[in-house]
Amino acid sequence: MSCERLFVEDAGRWLDENRTDVVSSYFLGRHVIHVRDPDAIQQIARSAGDFEDPGAGAPGSPPGPLRALLGGSLAALRGDAHAREREAMSAPFEASYVEAHVPFVAGAAADLARALAQSHGYARDVGELVRRAALDTVGAVGFGAGFGALEAAMGRDVYLGSAGPPDRLMGAWLDLTRAARALARAPAWLAWLLPAARRLRAAAAELRGTAEEMIRQRASQGGFQRGADESPAEGVDEARDVLSHLLANRFRYGLSADQIRDEVMGLLVGGVDTTAATLCACLAALCERPGLQRGIRDEVLRALDGRGVAELTGADLRACTLLQATWKEALRLYPAAVAAGRTATRDTEVCGYHIPRGALLGVSFWELHRNPALWPRALEFLPERWLAEYQAELGPTRRDAFMPFSVGPRACLGAPLADVEGPALLAGILAAMRLEPAPGWRPDYVQGLSLESATGFRMVTHEWTF
Ligand code: HEM
Repeated sequence: MSCERLFVEDAGRWLDENRTDVVSSYFLGRHVIHVRDPDAIQQIARSAGDFEDPGAGAPGSPPGPLRALLGGSLAALRGDAHAREREAMSAPFEASYVEAHVPFVAGAAADLARALAQSHGYARDVGELVRRAALDTVGAVGFGAGFGALEAAMGRDVYLGSAGPPDRLMGAWLDLTRAARALARAPAWLAWLLPAARRLRAAAAELRGTAEEMIRQRASQGGFQRGADESPAEGVDEARDVLSHLLANRFRYGLSADQIRDEVMGLLVGGVDTTAATLCACLAALCERPGLQRGIRDEVLRALDGRGVAELTGADLRACTLLQATWKEALRLYPAAVAAGRTATRDTEVCGYHIPRGALLGVSFWELHRNPALWPRALEFLPERWLAEYQAELGPTRRDAFMPFSVGPRACLGAPLADVEGPALLAGILAAMRLEPAPGWRPDYVQGLSLESATGFRMVTHEWTF
């Protein structure tokens, strides 16, 4: 059983029963300290020096092959190198830049609804189509063009330059996430030996090839030939996508071609399954709340005022308070990044406990968000708790009880994008259809590349009839 699974199933119960916020356990002979106290999480996550990302090979770091997938991207960097690349990556994720991607995301929402509608009335796993929408969105934001993954699912013939048909890309992505799930449950020393490690390397090579091809294409437009003080090449809009931005600022931040490739790959690893998992968990919870589905649909249609979903704007999304509350509640109850790992770089103290240098700390967003001392009716999916009129009764007892994107220097860079993409895709689905769970199906949450359901997300969609 994986450390995460142990934590989710047993440590949470242990923490509640013993009324504590810190639990120390041994996993395969390693000392792991799990933390769910908000002050301790802030202390650990915001610290620039006392706690570091575990780093390759450190206890509790992702097994070798998974770590290799991150390459030299932000999530794998430390210290000054991390700070420098984070600065280089930040601009395209600022809220005003993300706003420029809303039309693409709204188009993806309309496409996703169309693709789901093809199987109205039949039980199906909606997870793959949702992932395709998320893959396309990261394609647009990261590379300046959707990957055509949703169109491919709808049987349209869409090819992406010489990078190959989108279904090869999606196939590689599905292989990668399946292999990642198998590896996430294996101890680091064993992971390299498993067949899943070979499958993961092959899928990662396929994705890396696609990224390199796209970078070559973009570089041929002039991005690589610019000096630090020259203006952007014609046709390259730096504000629009991460790749253009990194190419244009390559000299300023001293980024090599490999670093740029690793960063855009890192966006795929960090940005696709996280958003898709949150949305799928949200849909699964909504299956149990038909009235809430209708309430969100009415709110979205009111905001659209006769326009189609493809014309959704950022202002429409912000106006839909029930939609926003539902997305937030999904982030609370089903944080896609269940936990973050850190290593103590020196002897220190957390919640009054001595933490020896080298100890691994697991900061658990899952347990933080499910702590009954911080959340009334903590285990219930209640979007209402985020609405002003219910906040006194159902809201958290502390503002920092909610940290799905973490905090501090390593907090999620893609949060502003996820907070537009998730609600937009949800709006697109619920404007067009209602959902029921497939007969006999229930989600079974486990840790893979991010949060997943071992039983998939099997649902039946229906056209609204009233
Ligand atoms: C609901 C969706 C998402 C959730 C819940 C989520 C959560 C997180 C969390 C908790 C971290 C911090 C991990 C740590 O402290 O070690 C993180 C880091 C990161 N996320 Fe996200 N994420 C989401 C979506 C995205 C998206 C859409 C992108 C980009 C396309 C993205 C890019 C990143 C990157 C690049 C980092 C590394 C930041 C750094 O190390 O400086 N994430 N994410």
